[in-house]
Amino acid sequence: MNPPAAGAPESENPNTARSGRNDGDLSGRVALVTGAGTGIGRATALALAEAGAMVGVHYCRSEDAAARTLATIQQQGGSGVLLQGDLSIAADCRRIVDELAAQAKRLDILVNNAGSPIRKVRLEDCPLEVWQQSLATNLTGTFLVTQRAIPLLRACGRGAIVNNLSLSVQTGGAGGAGAYAAAKGGLQVMTRTLARELAPEVRVNAIMPGVIETPHHDQFTSPERMAEYRTETPLGRNGQAGEVAAVIRFLVSDAARFVNGALLDINGGRFLR
Ligand SMILES: NC(=O)c1ccc[n+]([C@@H]2O[C@H](COP(=O)([O-])OP(=O)(O)OC[C@H]3O[C@@H](n4cnc5c(N)ncnc54)[C@H](OP(=O)(O)O)[C@@H]3O)[C@@H](O)[C@H]2O)c1
Repeated sequence: MNPPAAGAPESENPNTARSGRNDGDLSGRVALVTGAGTGIGRATALALAEAGAMVGVHYCRSEDAAARTLATIQQQGGSGVLLQGDLSIAADCRRIVDELAAQAKRLDILVNNAGSPIRKVRLEDCPLEVWQQSLATNLTGTFLVTQRAIPLLRACGRGAIVNNLSLSVQTGGAGGAGAYAAAKGGLQVMTRTLARELAPEVRVNAIMPGVIETPHHDQFTSPERMAEYRTETPLGRNGQAGEVAAVIRFLVSDAARFVNGALLDINGGRFLR
């Protein structure tokens, strides 16, 4: 797929138009999805590619999984590129964006999905290294990727960013996820700041998933706790990565052209504001 050069031919900015497409079509757009080898990121990369976008499939350690994400996209007739980088390393954050820009020549959509609790430990016992690594990975890395992407997103005239926060922003973090929750809280503020600063060329929104069954929980949550989460949730189950991806697809599409600065709960009613 050859996406159109920035600024042409779809030069009208749907973010400022009163009407437009509502079908979620993303043909001709280029998206960067961080952490796209596994879980929510993988599902999002597949959903955006299915909608017609060329996808930068970023990964850190999961090279094989990311290659499988890209292979699936290509088998389904889509296109994309693999991008490796550690978001806790500043130079990597900038290089990821530069590599995609060099190949795709534009960027319309940024999904800041990658993130991790690093290690679960109560704040009173949290070593400085864990705190710093959590902020570096979840907050500073996202800031640096976003900062590098902003000129490209502005240039396309209809940019969209979605930040993947967490229900932990509301709860303070379950079972020792305080440093992670603090970083995600920073992303919440960043979402609102950017929603003002980048409008109207770029819309910026965030999602706050509840408990979604992904490798995240294989690593950080016991099967017993996952079962409790199911029964504690009004819908009687935990979420699936594809259900989060469907919301992200909506938010980055023209169907959501008047949605800016929103923080969307995706938690089965587990937490009601
Ligand atoms: N699952 C949930 O219940 C839930 C709830 C709320 C929010 N979230 C958020 O959803 C996002 C995706 O998580 P997931 O549930 O889909 O779990 P996951 O499959 O474990 O995904 C986490 C992703 O983050 C990437 N990542 C971790 N550390 C990184 C680093 N230093 N540099 C670059 N990438 C890094 C991983 O890449 P590699 O594997 O390539 O290293 C992986 O793709 C995370 O931000 C998480 O906080 C999840």
